[in-house]
Amino acid sequence: MSAAPVLVTGGAGYIGSHTTLCLLQAGFDVLVLDNLSNSSPESLRRVAELAGRAPVFVEADLRDRQALENVFSHYRPASVVHFAGLKAVGESVEQPLRYYENNVQGSLALFEAMQAHDCAQLVFSSSATVYGDPESLPIDESESIKPTNPYGQTKAMIERIILDWGQAWPALRGLLLRYFNPVGAHPSGRIGEDPQGIPNNLVPFISQVAVGRREALQIFGSDWPTPDGTGVRDYIHVMDLAEGHLAALRALDGLNGVQPVNLGTGQGTSVREMVDQFARASSREIPVVEAPRRAGDIATCYADPGHAAQLLNWRARRGVDEMCADTWRWQRDNPQGFKI
Ligand code: NAD
Ligand code: UD1
Repeated sequence: MSAAPVLVTGGAGYIGSHTTLCLLQAGFDVLVLDNLSNSSPESLRRVAELAGRAPVFVEADLRDRQALENVFSHYRPASVVHFAGLKAVGESVEQPLRYYENNVQGSLALFEAMQAHDCAQLVFSSSATVYGDPESLPIDESESIKPTNPYGQTKAMIERIILDWGQAWPALRGLLLRYFNPVGAHPSGRIGEDPQGIPNNLVPFISQVAVGRREALQIFGSDWPTPDGTGVRDYIHVMDLAEGHLAALRALDGLNGVQPVNLGTGQGTSVREMVDQFARASSREIPVVEAPRRAGDIATCYADPGHAAQLLNWRARRGVDEMCADTWRWQRDNPQGFKI
């Protein structure tokens, strides 16, 4: 490795692998640190195949301070994109201590290593989940922070830690990227989302119904105050998200301090619209059954993406048709995900 690399924690995971590919293609050297607790090394093998060059991969846990010390002293990363963390809302309600320990402790160990090695550029994976049930729509970054589950609390806490850290260490430049609903896959169909067990999120579930792994989608509530009665969300293509990280890294140079930025499209799509779109993209029928509302859900959530446009010079470009077509290609070609 010649130039100082970008350290990508959680780079073998869903969003991390797409971002690693995007960074490699943009000419960055990339160092991935991942403990593979929710991912497969096959994703990085395919990233290397698509990029024509490989990231350096270190299999380690973020909470392993000696491993971090070795990585920082050996590779001297200039910046960090921090994806690594646990992300299942339901699981976080059942195992809150595990979520706080992994997400918050892991982040603290990372930030201490960064400061010890004078690495002062950070892009952090936050989530629109920090807004809870929003007071106004579209949601801009001034919306209050009121997460409704332990997973969301870990994101809010880590954001707070980074903001306080930035106050104490003025050299720090950080972007807290609040993703709306990431979906889709690389257009090659070689990498994509590979959830373990029964998917919690809408699009992975629909695509497993389309490919015949599950019988029917349950629609959680048809009586929401929305145009067709089903929940409305701001789905964003994972390639747009990956490009958003590239734009964020480039913007860090000219930035002062730490600030939050929404990454969304600004467009809301209902569950029924998504089902219809996916049926078209896959030419498969998607059986649905109406089910009660899911605990903790909200009616509508979509971003005001204006701040990202102005600060990062970035906008999501891909529509729901492309999100479904790319998800379907990945699912059809890899019905069992990365398991061969
Ligand atoms: P993912 O589970 O596919 O990727 C996370 C990666 O982090 C995995 O490869 C996992 O093995 C690794 N990891 C977890 N704990 C680790 C630890 N202690 N040490 C080292 N590696 C560890 O998830 P994703 O969907 O790619 O999400 C990436 C980030 O974006 C997460 O922080 C998540 O909370 C956030 N986010 C995701 C979504 C979404 O819908 N996917 C939405 C908003 C925010
Ligand atoms: C969920 C998480 C949120 C996380 C986000 C992005 C919860 C409560 N929130 O949000 O913290 O940041 O994912 O990953 O889990 N739906 C169905 N049937 C299904 C699955 C979902 O009808 O089988 C509906 C939901 O009710 C919702 C929409 O589809 O209206 C989207 O759901 P989902 O993909 O789980 O995302 P969010 O609920 O927005």
